[in-house]
Amino acid sequence: MKKALLLAAALAVTTSASAAGKLEIFSWWSGDEGPALEALIKLYKQKYPSVTVDNATVSGGAGTNAKAVLKTRMLGGTPPDSFQAHAGQELIGTWVVAGRMEDLSSLFKSEGWDKVFPKDLVKLISQGGKPWSVPVNVHRSNVMWYNPAKLKAWGVTAPKTWPEFLKTCSTLKAKGVAAPLVVGENWTQQHLWESVMIGTLGSANWENLWAGKLKFTDPKVVGAFTTFGKVMDCANKDASGLSWQQASDRIIDGTSAFNVMGDWAAGYFTTTKKLAPNTGFGWAPAPGTTKTFVMLADSFGLPKGAKDRAEALNWLKVLGSKAGQDAFNPLKGSIAARTDSDLSKYNTYSKSAAADWKSNKIVGSMVHGAVAPESFTSAFGAIIDQFVASKNSAAAAAAAQQLAVRAGISK
Ligand code: GAL
Repeated sequence: MKKALLLAAALAVTTSASAAGKLEIFSWWSGDEGPALEALIKLYKQKYPSVTVDNATVSGGAGTNAKAVLKTRMLGGTPPDSFQAHAGQELIGTWVVAGRMEDLSSLFKSEGWDKVFPKDLVKLISQGGKPWSVPVNVHRSNVMWYNPAKLKAWGVTAPKTWPEFLKTCSTLKAKGVAAPLVVGENWTQQHLWESVMIGTLGSANWENLWAGKLKFTDPKVVGAFTTFGKVMDCANKDASGLSWQQASDRIIDGTSAFNVMGDWAAGYFTTTKKLAPNTGFGWAPAPGTTKTFVMLADSFGLPKGAKDRAEALNWLKVLGSKAGQDAFNPLKGSIAARTDSDLSKYNTYSKSAAADWKSNKIVGSMVHGAVAPESFTSAFGAIIDQFVASKNSAAAAAAAQQLAVRAGISK
């Protein structure tokens, strides 16, 4: 009886908290990256109209700035109620191992999520058999974007291998295209590096690198660094000053022919720029990665000590729901993490990504947190910067190997 009363009292507290509560969501989806998250918040507000939502964002692609701010808040004991983190090692290797996150097992159970999220994805967000975040999407990292009308005018097609890319690069340079490839700030160069590695080494070797079974100093990997250097020779010289959106713009305006970027670029082209897939923008797997889907997923977790825990749990429910995922993803360029999403709501690009997600070999992205811990990814940028300046493959490979050992990836 006493237990029942206590339970009733606890429920009353939860209900009154949700009746007029607050919720702070923390992410890097601001400005051009904002519309998909805003659609999700709108859905949450329809369900919980009296909750005031603080959409706290720290802008900067790939979360480079947001992750630094999050760290101060987590360590300072003022965590947001729920925050964006990549599914996989990015969250597991930092805040989960540090004991700062809540186990979401009972939420997964009550929402039936074990059955609607793909098994491998649940494995990626789990540690010790427990899930630690809720995936809202699946993004593809290995996509090469282009402007179909421009490629036609130049008389070239999207290259299928990196050696073929280098030939196409020479052809385009001879036609007066100064930078056939456009890249942006450091993380976008790492993003390109990832596609060059996988396209050169193959997906099995890529997996071996992160499993500690292939060393960065292996001649194969050193050779792939050299290829990356040649690919960078095809790129614009003002890369470090460009955001990923500004790099995407150069494809649309025809300054450059190709850009390797995740399919948030599809969201940018369709949602922000109002371009149609296949005519306004074109795409192909990054060279050498046909039939490989390099995945990453954005997810949200519940930090211990969240001020508005009940609201945060409801937020997680909305973002893991079918309606939530089908409101968010068609605007974001990603596909739903759930297997039961309504594909009729998605455009031609996303339908093709959904088909590839089912049929391709799936490997995880390093740059976007799936396969390597934050201790590796946050320090790898300096190696890329140094390599781009020196083009010294052996030195870059040796530095990456040392970092992999420090991060516990390799021996
Ligand atoms: C990725 C993230 C995407 C997108 C992109 C550009 O790391 O997973 O959702 O936001 O960065 O900022």
